[in-house]
Order: sequence, then structure tokens, then C-alpha cells
Amino acid sequence: MSRPRRRQHVPWNAAGRVVEGRGDADVVVSDTGWVFNNAIGRHLSLAEFVDSGEQEVGAYLECFGFDPAENEHRSLVEIGSGIGRMTASFTRRFKSVVAADLDAAFLERCRETVMRFGVPERLSTLQVADGRTLDLPNASADMVFSYITLQHCEPADALALTVEALRVVRPGGHAVLNYRTWVPADALLFPAGIAVRALWRVPKLGVWLARQRWSARMGWQANRLAPGEVLDHLASVGVLLDDSAVWLQSPRRISGLDGVSVRTFIGVDRSHWWLIARRAS
Ligand SMILES: C[S@@+](CC[C@H](N)C(=O)[O-])C[C@H]1O[C@@H](n2cnc3c(N)ncnc32)[C@H](O)[C@@H]1O
Repeated sequence: MSRPRRRQHVPWNAAGRVVEGRGDADVVVSDTGWVFNNAIGRHLSLAEFVDSGEQEVGAYLECFGFDPAENEHRSLVEIGSGIGRMTASFTRRFKSVVAADLDAAFLERCRETVMRFGVPERLSTLQVADGRTLDLPNASADMVFSYITLQHCEPADALALTVEALRVVRPGGHAVLNYRTWVPADALLFPAGIAVRALWRVPKLGVWLARQRWSARMGWQANRLAPGEVLDHLASVGVLLDDSAVWLQSPRRISGLDGVSVRTFIGVDRSHWWLIARRAS
């Protein structure tokens, strides 16, 4: 029986078809690079695209205190790899990498990206067909990483993937997960997003719309989650953490963070926050 398509998958699958139809990797990046990181330039080569991933991976791993020498012995799962912007860098830094994404065409391109700019023998790929389950054994990775991906999931899927990340990570290992929270502009953006996602369900028009940059940007953030909500959810399903932290751009009072420290890093987007969750041993 076919699964009803989730509306928040429409822009990714629409971009996946564009990615599939292009031969040259540089053309893929200049046509669809914004899909993976809207902050980067309009007409990029694959090399520039991958370099933006390298800079961000280096900055975040260093800021969150992960020792490069230890990373060389760690296995990593990346949720929402896209076409490998950051994955190539991960394969150069980690012992093994599973790149996971809901779109199979992205994963195919991710393998090509790593072939050119990373260490292909360290890479395997995993399709997240239902958008919420990782088909990986319990406690099989040292680290699970996700950047600008959980914000694109329905709230229940983002929470399910958070629990999955901590199921897959070994005791003592880390889930390094990026979320989006509320900002004042959401007074307009949030209702506009609901309307745009409803239109994505309209046959033909929906797919055309989802390929337009303005429409994708307006509709693709399918949740806003506050740190307390995520931590409460983990506690409610019995996930135990120790020595964990929430990272923000600037200091803020946050409720519901018992036992979790709050830290700041200027490189975190104003609307984002990171959970660096260590699974209790
Ligand atoms: C904005 S892109 C970010 C890609 C990559 N992390 C980067 O920074 O270049 C979000 C990616 O998450 C994937 N994605 C969205 N929802 C997902 C889900 N529920 N499970 C797995 N991947 C998902 C999309 O297909 C897309 O490749």
C-alpha cells in the first residue's frame, strides 16, 4: 500500500527530481545549492559549496568541544545530508559516516560529492523513507549530527528523529542536533508557511510552487521547537542524558532545562539553537 506523501517532503522530493535530471555536479549546485543552505551564494561550483560545509563543520565541532584526534576514531550518522555539502568534510574527519536523507536522488549525489571531495570508503548512505525512523541498530554510532534539517520536519517527526538519534548513539556518545525556535518575524512567517504547505498538496501546481525559492523558503520550516519541549519529550520517553548543553547565539533565560547547561556561540543563527546531548552511560 502506498504511503500518503507528507506535504513537508514535497520541496525536497521536487528538488530531488531536479538533481536527478542534471548531469553536471556544478550545474546541480548552481541550480539547487540554495535548497541545502539558503545562506550561501547564488552561483556556486560544487567545490565552493563543499568548502562552505567544511568551514561550518570545522567551526561547530570546535565550538562544541569535539577533539579532532578523537573524531578520527568516531563513527558518525548525519541526518539530512542533502547532496553532501558537509558530508565530504565529515568523511575526512571521522572513521565512518552514514549519510541519511529522505530523498534517494540527494543520496546518489552525496556519494558523488564524497567521491570527489571526501573519503568514499568511509561513507554509507541510508534513506529515511518515512521521514522519522533511522534503520540503524541501537547504540551503533559515536555521534549523530543534524544541521538545518529538523526544522523542516513536522513537530512529531522532528521529535521522533531526536529520539532515534539518541537510540542510535551509544551510551557516552553525543547527539549534535540543530533546531529552529520562535523569532518575532514568525508572527507573519508561521501562518504564511501553513498556507504555502497547504498549496504544495495541489497536484502539479504544488510541485511547481515548491520549486520556487520564495515559496520553498516560506513553507519549508515546518516547526518551531523550544529547548524545553525537546528535553521534556526525551524525558517522557525515558531517554537519560548527562553533561549536555543547549547552545544559542546570545544569552537568554530558558525554562525547563534542569541539569542542562546553556552556552553561547556567535556563529549560531539567531533563530537556531543546538542540543549537544550526551547519552547517559
Ligand atoms: C536544508 S537541507 C540541509 C542539508 C545539509 N544538512 C546541509 O547543511 O547542507 C535539509 C535536508 O534535510 C533533508 N530532510 C528533510 N526532512 C527530512 C527527514 N524527515 N528525514 C531525513 N532528511 C530530511 C532534506 O531532504 C534536505 O536534504
